[in-house]
Amino acid sequence: MRPRENEQARPITDFLMEDHRRLEMLLQSAVAHADHVDQGAYAQFRAGLLRHIGMEEKILLPAAQRLRGGEPLLIASKLRLDHGAIATLLIPTPTVAIIAMIRGILKDHNTIEEGPGGLYETCDELAGSEAAKLLAKIQAAPEVTVLPHSDTPTVMNTLHRVLERAGYTFREDEI
Ligand SMILES: [Fe+2]
Ligand SMILES: [Fe+2]
Repeated sequence: MRPRENEQARPITDFLMEDHRRLEMLLQSAVAHADHVDQGAYAQFRAGLLRHIGMEEKILLPAAQRLRGGEPLLIASKLRLDHGAIATLLIPTPTVAIIAMIRGILKDHNTIEEGPGGLYETCDELAGSEAAKLLAKIQAAPEVTVLPHSDTPTVMNTLHRVLERAGYTFREDEI
């Protein structure tokens, strides 16, 4: 989306919002068939979302903190807990319950990032004339090495713990 004439450019917001939409479409196509998860689409979604989280965790949040003289954003800790929960949900084989959980978390999480006064708008404002440079760094974020799915009891215990710490409850049997 291009900004209108009298609107301020917001390169970081535009780029990362578009990435959210792209990832939503991938997840949508992964669950397009009621009886199975499309593994190809899910694999693209998983790799894309891990890279997106990496952009925010390793580039955007640290840049925001630096631009605020070392003071982290108030929403940073909540966003980091969500990222941990989402990344952990991407480890096991995707089930209906896991996908529903990811979707639920992402819905509110993305709203916090995209909304007025949210992470992206704040970062565009903080970066000001440096926004294009920051965007270039974000765009250069490396692909993430994605490990095979794992469903061991240790993974599932970790999943429950990480979700709980982030304020979510995972009920495999409810869906
Ligand atoms: Fe995020
Ligand atoms: Fe995001």
